[in-house]
Amino acid sequence: MSENKLLRKDFMNIVWGAAGLLAITELSLVGLSFLSPRTAEGEFGGVFKLGHYDQYPAGSVTLVEAGRFYLVRLPEGGLLAVYRRCTHLGCAVPYDLSVGKFVCPCHGSEFTMDGDVLNEPASRPLDLFTLSVNEVGEIEVDTSSPVERDQASPNHIVYI
Ligand code: FES
Repeated sequence: MSENKLLRKDFMNIVWGAAGLLAITELSLVGLSFLSPRTAEGEFGGVFKLGHYDQYPAGSVTLVEAGRFYLVRLPEGGLLAVYRRCTHLGCAVPYDLSVGKFVCPCHGSEFTMDGDVLNEPASRPLDLFTLSVNEVGEIEVDTSSPVERDQASPNHIVYI
């Protein structure tokens, strides 16, 4: 075999090796993009920044439409982020201000302001999302995964 043929073979090995390395790198980047979170701040599944807690008077229920939850400020001042999905069969549950409770339009389940069951068929309270208040009093709600609960508890309420 001549020296030219050996050089050409070495060159082709380097080209194929580089092409293979490039293909593996591209596949890895595509794979990583599937693993990274796809929800942005302010979209359901992401984090919602709701401003200072002073904007929400005690005894108020505020729908955060894009987040599919209610920011509830209980009469004594505690905070909850209540998922608006009914725990019976998943209908969106509106808050009825005139009676001060959540009333599901599908089969009539009713829930207290903190999401506890008043009337079946729902058998457990409305789910929550994790809520936190930072050192300057700004509220954040993480809608990445609902928190299921068997019964309402003061442990779920965030006090400032
Ligand atoms: S879905 Fe709400 S009561 Fe059935």
